[in-house]
Amino acid sequence: MRIAVIKEVRDGETRVAASADTVKKYVAAGHTVTVETGAGVAAATPDSLYAEAGATIAASAKAALKDAELVLKVRRPTSGEIKLMPKGAGVVAFFAPYADKPLIEEAAAAGLITLSTEFTPRITRAQAMDALSSQANLAGYRAVIEAAALYGRGFPMMMTAAGTVAAARCFIMGAGVAGLQAIATARRLGAVVTATDVRPAAKEQVASLGAKFVAVEDEEFKAAETAAGYAKPMSAEYQAKQAALVAEHIAKQDIVITTALIPGRPAPVLVTPEMVAAMKPGSVIIDLAVEQGGNCPLSKPDIVVTTDNGVAVAGFTNLPGRLAADSSALYAKNLLQLLPLLTDKETGAFAPAFDDDIIKGMLLTRDGAVVHPSLAA
Ligand code: NAI
Repeated sequence: MRIAVIKEVRDGETRVAASADTVKKYVAAGHTVTVETGAGVAAATPDSLYAEAGATIAASAKAALKDAELVLKVRRPTSGEIKLMPKGAGVVAFFAPYADKPLIEEAAAAGLITLSTEFTPRITRAQAMDALSSQANLAGYRAVIEAAALYGRGFPMMMTAAGTVAAARCFIMGAGVAGLQAIATARRLGAVVTATDVRPAAKEQVASLGAKFVAVEDEEFKAAETAAGYAKPMSAEYQAKQAALVAEHIAKQDIVITTALIPGRPAPVLVTPEMVAAMKPGSVIIDLAVEQGGNCPLSKPDIVVTTDNGVAVAGFTNLPGRLAADSSALYAKNLLQLLPLLTDKETGAFAPAFDDDIIKGMLLTRDGAVVHPSLAA
C-alpha cells in the first residue's frame, strides 16, 4: 500500500501524522511511505529522519498525494488538499465532523474513504488507537504548564528566610482524560488541587490522584454517564445547583482549568463572568473547551484576556500542538495501530474492514456518500 503523509497547513498546526518510528514499521510491513518535505520539522522530525526510516521525501503535497492509497493526517484536509487526493483513497484525520459538514460532503463527492479519529469507539480493543485520549492527556499536562507560566506566583509552598510562599490553589473542572492529567501535573508542581465532574465515576479517580472532589452529588449526578463513558447534558436545575457550589469555591482559587465537554454539543458554561469577577487578582483561568464555545464565556481562542479585576483568561485551541514532538509520536502510534484494520491480510493492499466495529464507528464517507449515522441529513 502507498501511504502519504503531508505537511499540516491548517492554523499553524505543528503536529505530523507519522513519526520516524512508525514509518519504519510501515516500511517493515511492506508498505511504501511518501512524506512531504518539511512535514515533521515543527515536531522535531526533519526529512533526514524520515528518509533514514525508509520514506521517500516528496517536494510538495501534490507529489506526495499522487497515487496515494492511504493519507495520514492530523487535521481534516482542506478543499485544496481533497482535490489532490486520488479517488478511492483513504484519509484518517481529526475531521471535527460536527464543525465542518460541507467539507465532509466534499470528501464524499471526491470519492474518498474518510475515517475520523474523534469517533474511535471507546472499547478496550480500540484503546491504543484512541487519538482523542492520547492528545487530551498531553493537553491536560500542557494546560497546567501554561497556567504556571501565566501565574505571577509559585505553585508549591516554599518556606524561605524571607517569608513563606503559599501553595497555589488549583481547581480542575471536568475530570476526563485531560482533567485527570491536569490534576496529576498540578499536584506534581505542589499545588493544592480540587476537581469537579458530573460523572460519578470521576469521584474515585480524582481521589486516587490525591485531589479533593467538589460536586453536587444528587440523583441526577448518579445517572450522568452514558454507556460510552461520556457526560450527559445536565438539567437546568442541576446546572444552577452546580453553579452555586462552584461560585463559592472558585472565589478562593488561584488557577482554574476547565476541560468539560459533551460530545457533539457546545461546551457547558461552568465559569460565568460573575464568578470571574469574584476571583482574586493574578488568578488564571485556562479554558480547554474554547473551540467548542468555551466553559467560560470570557475566553477567546488563542488570546490571553485580562479582566478588570486582574484575572488572566486563556483559551488555547491546540495545546497538544505546543508539545508537537510528543503529541505527534503518540498520534502516529494511534494511527499505526489502525493498520491491520485498513489492509488486506494477504496482499497488504488498502482494504478497510468495513464490517469491523472500530472502522464502522470511525467511517464518515464511502462510495460517494456521507455514511456516519450521526451526520446523516
Ligand atoms: P470529554 O473530553 O468528552 O469531557 C471532559 C470531561 O468533562 C468529562 O469527564 C465529562 O464528564 C466532563 N463534563 C461534562 N460536562 C460537565 C459539567 N457540566 N461539569 C463538570 N464536568 C463536566 O471526556 P474524555 O476526557 O474524553 O473522557 C470521558 C471518559 O471516558 C473518562 O472517564 C475516560 O476515562 C473515559 N475513557 C475511556 C476509554 C476507553 O477506551 N474505555 C478511552 C478514553 C476515555
